[in-house]
Amino acid sequence: MSRKYATETLRADAEGIARAAAILRAGGLVAVPTETVYGLAARADSDVAVARIYEAKGRPSFNPLIVHVRSLDQARVLAELSPQAAKLAEEHWPGPLTLVLKRRTGAGLAGAVTAGLDTVALRMPDHPVMRALLEMVDFPLAAPSANRSGFISPTTAAHVLTSLDGLIDAVIDGGACVAGVESTIVAVRTDGSIEVLRPGPIDLGQLSRSTSIEAPGQLASHYAPGKPVRLNVTEVAPDDFSIGFGAYGGDCTLSETGDLAEAAARLYACLHEGARSPKRCIAVAPIPEIGMGVAINDRLRRAAAPPD
Ligand code: TXA
Ligand code: MG
Repeated sequence: MSRKYATETLRADAEGIARAAAILRAGGLVAVPTETVYGLAARADSDVAVARIYEAKGRPSFNPLIVHVRSLDQARVLAELSPQAAKLAEEHWPGPLTLVLKRRTGAGLAGAVTAGLDTVALRMPDHPVMRALLEMVDFPLAAPSANRSGFISPTTAAHVLTSLDGLIDAVIDGGACVAGVESTIVAVRTDGSIEVLRPGPIDLGQLSRSTSIEAPGQLASHYAPGKPVRLNVTEVAPDDFSIGFGAYGGDCTLSETGDLAEAAARLYACLHEGARSPKRCIAVAPIPEIGMGVAINDRLRRAAAPPD
């Protein structure tokens, strides 16, 4: 890994977004705020640009990327949308729902985007900056979370620079992301079955949860802060950086009032703070396994898993 780029920080205004679009047209990498986390965007129709995402992230080539689209029409060019898929898209787009669909061949996507699968993951994001950018370019944007592979996801431009400074062309600083955890991923199969591959902000609770590792990026260890993480901690030890919730206080709190949406929005910021702290361990208070708590606990279990 060589940090060879002078990464520009762009303002989230018309000029900054136009500059980002120019960088993307030329095949560059720009970190962009979305409503979930910052994404590391590149043009999805270019093998060279997409290869640079894998290189900058140190991402294994078998882990496919989410393609961000500006409209349902653009989605239909890239994938076959069954009536069920179209219904989910109409209900939740723009928003934090990613649909894994049968890929259309010859739609011009770089092969590495889908890591050789015959499916493609699509999402229409709901963030004014990402949407303005998608309107300015005439290609869809491949964008994984804007962090080195396996590290904590970014919800601010500063988090992006923590792991990618010098490895990417630019970051647009659009402030903190509101949802704070990555999109819900749902596979909509041609046989009509629907399966949640990754829990997230959109709760499709009645659908079955996948038990296999079907989203190839769902490795056990992820979001790793580089030190041991303990969960459901009610007794903090002296060498713990404590992350609180509700009645449990901490060095950092997810939500003093026990609000799960606020906790999701603050999750990665607290993990980044814990990673930076001189304390040897991170101890996290119990989080209820309901609503947004399902996605929060999913990310925390991966942050706590031993490195693979
Ligand atoms: O909220 C989000 O989804 C953010 C923002 C930037 O949009 N993106 C994000 O991307 O979380 P990433 O790369 O960190 O996670 C994408 C996940 C990976 O687990 C990957 O394996 C899975 O999506 N995925 C992508 N294409 C897939 C496919 N065709 N089938 C199954 N899983 C897929
Ligand atoms: Mg990620």
